Amino acid sequence: MDATQRPAVVIDCGTGYTKMGFAGNVEPSHIIPTAIGVKDGVHAGPVARKASPLDDLDFLTGADVFGNPAYNVKYPIQHGQVENWDHMERFYQHCIFDHMRCDPEDHYFLLTEPPLNAPENREYTAEIMFETFNCAGLYIAVQAVLALAASLTSKKRAADSTLTGTVIDSGDGVTHVIPVAEGFVIGSSIKSIPIAGKDLTLFIQQLMRERGEQLPPEESLDIARRVKEQYSYTASDIVREFSKYDNEPGKYVKEVSGVAARTSQPWRADVAYE
Ligand SMILES: Nc1ncnc2c1ncn2[C@@H]1O[C@H](COP(=O)(O)OP(=O)(O)OP(=O)(O)O)[C@@H](O)[C@H]1O
Ligand SMILES: [Mg+2]
Repeated sequence: MDATQRPAVVIDCGTGYTKMGFAGNVEPSHIIPTAIGVKDGVHAGPVARKASPLDDLDFLTGADVFGNPAYNVKYPIQHGQVENWDHMERFYQHCIFDHMRCDPEDHYFLLTEPPLNAPENREYTAEIMFETFNCAGLYIAVQAVLALAASLTSKKRAADSTLTGTVIDSGDGVTHVIPVAEGFVIGSSIKSIPIAGKDLTLFIQQLMRERGEQLPPEESLDIARRVKEQYSYTASDIVREFSKYDNEPGKYVKEVSGVAARTSQPWRADVAYE
């Protein structure tokens, strides 16, 4: 059996989360934060100042990344663009071998790129996939085009419908409005707004800090993200929502709590109208 008969591996690396799975499935098999943990003082790149050559191999991925005080959490992708290729390579390694559990030589890969990605970035990605992982084949598609393609297949539209439409993609790092004509992105008309999920998280973190919640500082961003994902909602009349919380705090104010990894001190905080 060669790679054409096996399902392709699809990996969508975003600023916040990486979604991966096999072609043909209706949803991703794994959704993990795009983050890796590296030892303090390890610098990637040509000006490496390493404490020991072995530090290079010493990194955490997946669920272990958060809450280990000895390692720094690094996000290899910022605003949709890969910032640190060294970390990205280790992250791909983790995705392919620990999550997808496949041999890259036996599968084709479908990776994604943000709109207006520089050709160099595409080349780096191809270099990693072919030279490090020796994958059977690779296609790098624009996220917006894939979103349109997904909407085509899910809606069962007329057979003559094409990949034409406008995609609004609001992720973790950046929000894009992307016109697509027959599968091609119209680059000159892309609008991008540098406000997305991460800004909401930072906003919640700031509000919790201003309200004086006692949170472990190194975890406050993670806590803010959890609060956002679990409790936030949109409302048409914000004044009414505020008064709802002011009049009946006992009914609406929720509580989050946990134990700080670094100090093992328990913490708790109220969730109200952040
Ligand atoms: N239930 C939820 N409620 C609110 N926000 C959520 C929820 N689940 C995820 N998010 C937020 O959605 C964002 C992730 O979205 P997505 O996976 O589309 O972004 P990405 O692809 O990682 O980033 P980008 O496309 O900008 O590179 C994060 O900010 C995350 O906190
Ligand atoms: Mg995305």
